[in-house]
Amino acid sequence: MDDNFLNGYEKAEMPSPGEFSVFKKKIAELIKLDLTNYKNAQMERRIVSFMNKNRVNNLQEYYKVLQSDKDQLEKFVNMLTINVSEFFRNPEKFEELEKTYLPELLERKPGLKIWSAGCSIGSEIYTVAMILDKMNVLEKCELIASDFDENILNKAQTGKYSAHEAGRIPERYKGYFRQVAGEQETLMLEPWLINSVRFERRDLLNSGFDSGFDLILCRNVVIYFTDEAKDKLYRGFYDSLSAGGILFIGSTERINNCKMLGYKLRTTFFYQKSYCALKKKSGNKNFFRKRNA
Ligand SMILES: C[S@@+](CC[C@H](N)C(=O)[O-])C[C@H]1O[C@@H](n2cnc3c(N)ncnc32)[C@H](O)[C@@H]1O
Repeated sequence: MDDNFLNGYEKAEMPSPGEFSVFKKKIAELIKLDLTNYKNAQMERRIVSFMNKNRVNNLQEYYKVLQSDKDQLEKFVNMLTINVSEFFRNPEKFEELEKTYLPELLERKPGLKIWSAGCSIGSEIYTVAMILDKMNVLEKCELIASDFDENILNKAQTGKYSAHEAGRIPERYKGYFRQVAGEQETLMLEPWLINSVRFERRDLLNSGFDSGFDLILCRNVVIYFTDEAKDKLYRGFYDSLSAGGILFIGSTERINNCKMLGYKLRTTFFYQKSYCALKKKSGNKNFFRKRNA
């Protein structure tokens, strides 16, 4: 942080582990997100940086700021969850999905159940929807997208994107977007494409999962999760996948103990549940039924 920015204000010192622990408990009540599953060092450095920006030098004061200032609370949640996303993020991987994995999955059944976990503004699941539409199978598929962040979900459901957010859409997919009348810089997806996705609010670290997914995308979500939390999540995904189902993860991620968890690494970032995996009885059947459950 730039010292000039503080204008003589005394920088906050790193709070003690005990102080952080109290703060995290209070935050969990305030925003309903369990921070104990997020990596400590990174998150704590960011919290101190936020304290400095707000010119408070202890966690109790910072908590009061978050309690009383909605904007600051939103910034804090955004800082924790980082919701940057884009259409066709890592295009070569989506090409692989289209050319290799979707045809394989569709060979086994005509319609697929697909989940984008940590969907942010929806670009990822809409990318999949566009690909499926080009393959003429969208109508037969069930698409679900979930995120912890309610605001981001509301945005995702509008299907509206600034030119910057829309980014570089490959030529053959540009037809799915329309210019919004009166809003020069805004693009909107075709309403029928938006309606092909069901959005749900869900904390991945604190809820049961539905089952029977053929494809789960969980990309660029676990960056700040502890190893234990990642492990638990990937186990949960395994149970949620149908036999032969694919887990598609982010390009800076890997599942260290994938074999132990039962996955086979097919190609980088694509993991597969074995075809002969035993069907385990697990998963919360109520998952995805109710928004904000
Ligand atoms: C960087 S975005 C990734 C978006 C998209 N998957 C992609 O790769 O472009 C990370 C998303 O994960 C969500 N997220 C972080 N922690 C979460 C949690 N515990 N439960 C559900 N979603 C979470 C954030 O709200 C954010 O929208």
